[in-house]
Amino acid sequence: MSENLHIQKLRAKKNQSHLGGGQDRIDSHHKRGKLTARERIDLLLDKGSFREVDAFVVHRTHDFSLQKQKFTGDSVITGWGTIDGRLAYVFAQDFTVFGGSLGEVHAEKIIKIMDMAMKNGAPIIGLNDSGGARIQEGVVSLAGYGEIFLRNTLASGVIPQISAIMGPCAGGAVYSPALTDFIFMTRNSSYMFVTGPDVVKTVTHEEVSLEDLGGASVHAEKSGVCHVAADSEADTLYLIRKMLSYLPQNNMEDPPFLQTGDDPLRADETLDNLIPNEPNKPYDVKEILRIVVDNGQFYEIQEGFAGNIVIGLARLGGHSIGIVANQPAVLAGVLDIDSSEKAGRFVRFCDAFNIPVVTFVDTPGYLPGTNQEHHGVIRNGAKLLYAFCEATVPKLTVITRKAYGGAYLVMSSKHVRGDLNLAWPTAEIAVMGPDGAVSVVMRREMEQAADPLARKAELVAEYRDKFANPYVAAERGYIDDVIEPHETRARLINALEMLQNKRDANPAKKHGNIPL
Ligand code: HXC
Repeated sequence: MSENLHIQKLRAKKNQSHLGGGQDRIDSHHKRGKLTARERIDLLLDKGSFREVDAFVVHRTHDFSLQKQKFTGDSVITGWGTIDGRLAYVFAQDFTVFGGSLGEVHAEKIIKIMDMAMKNGAPIIGLNDSGGARIQEGVVSLAGYGEIFLRNTLASGVIPQISAIMGPCAGGAVYSPALTDFIFMTRNSSYMFVTGPDVVKTVTHEEVSLEDLGGASVHAEKSGVCHVAADSEADTLYLIRKMLSYLPQNNMEDPPFLQTGDDPLRADETLDNLIPNEPNKPYDVKEILRIVVDNGQFYEIQEGFAGNIVIGLARLGGHSIGIVANQPAVLAGVLDIDSSEKAGRFVRFCDAFNIPVVTFVDTPGYLPGTNQEHHGVIRNGAKLLYAFCEATVPKLTVITRKAYGGAYLVMSSKHVRGDLNLAWPTAEIAVMGPDGAVSVVMRREMEQAADPLARKAELVAEYRDKFANPYVAAERGYIDDVIEPHETRARLINALEMLQNKRDANPAKKHGNIPL
């Protein structure tokens, strides 16, 4: 055989591998408005940077006469490339081959690439489009998932792990993403469920569509499983690239610094009048965030879920930061089970990857009531408290208005190792709001007054004047400074630079026991 024939054979094999489940299946995949696994990789990575491995792998199964159906490369494409010039590992499941289902060799391919990502300290991105464990391969498929789950867990907090859901994903195809840091979904074409609608119907007699069971809206708004929902596959992949621009490659690195061109001393005086005079009037905290961060660019995460707390990534003076902010425009910014879980997990992510956390506080406290109590607001609310207490990254806090009771402590207070705790003059820091406090401690005095309601109003005003301000806390040093709101950006950037070499650690231990 001449060299030319060898090369021809190689090319033919690679072409075959590139065809996945065949042109017919690719066509029907395209007809559903979906990109192929290879097209997705091309959009995700820098042009021409993808290097594939294991393109010749085929399955070894004979059950269900599977030996008659072999596809070069099997049902997943694996390799590495760059995103904005930085190394990233990727696997993309190919729905045109056995519905992207995971059998023995499919798992081996993913495991190989995960191990490489761990050894070389770079993010791994999984583009999931899979019916889960390959039914024909039985327990061998389950074993494959087990190996992947183990690696997801060991890689957690070491390298960023990002999952995109790009089709109907079931079984193990959702549990592996669930162990990763962030889940992206594409609206109207991606679905996540432990079992699909057919199994649901058999077991519970419920009739439910793919969309209503596990569409992007369900997971972005109800379950909180999805962190970022995008309108198209291209947008989904673009948003992954963008998120990575804020993150370090691994837990031993600092996040990348980027010259943003926004003046660190920029002072916007609209901030000075942004907090309404009436203490119970809502305002949109995202307005503050957009004014303060570089070029108004705030990358929001879990936007549609637990809107009473806002989380996301941004830059301040070119430094990556994670933001946690109570949102007075939704449920008055109250803390509850969902918002505590949402923000708690994000704080832990930032802490794991050396991303400073900037916290904006305006919350009346934890939501009272049987619903919250019976669903475990004690256990779940403690997650956020634990996360802030445990975090050793630079922690900056700005109290804009209400910081009452436990919520004052939880929200990155001085007492849980806040590095710089600032307050606006509108801050109200006390054990509880004036109304509640007066009702509890001055009940007798009100009852004995000639006009109890008028007396209550007087007492509330006195309490507000005396306690609901930032100065009592500032006198004790619990607040480092009370600032004019327009100074916020410059003060935060100065603090980030002051804290560049911050070193703090927790006691040596195997791991803590966060209230799960
Ligand atoms: C083998 C599978 C498969 C699977 C799909 N296919 N899922 N093959 N194992 N798990 C195949 C189909 O047979 C079909 O092959 C092709 O993929 C496309 O599937 P369709 O059903 O035609 O596509 P669609 O209508 O879009 O439906 C997609 C789907 C559905 C919703 C994912 O296929 C489905 O419900 N599959 C089963 C999902 C499931 O229950 N998985 C759980 C596995 S258990 P042909 O040759 O006809 O094109 C699991 C446990 C792991 O994962 C451990 C968890 C902790």
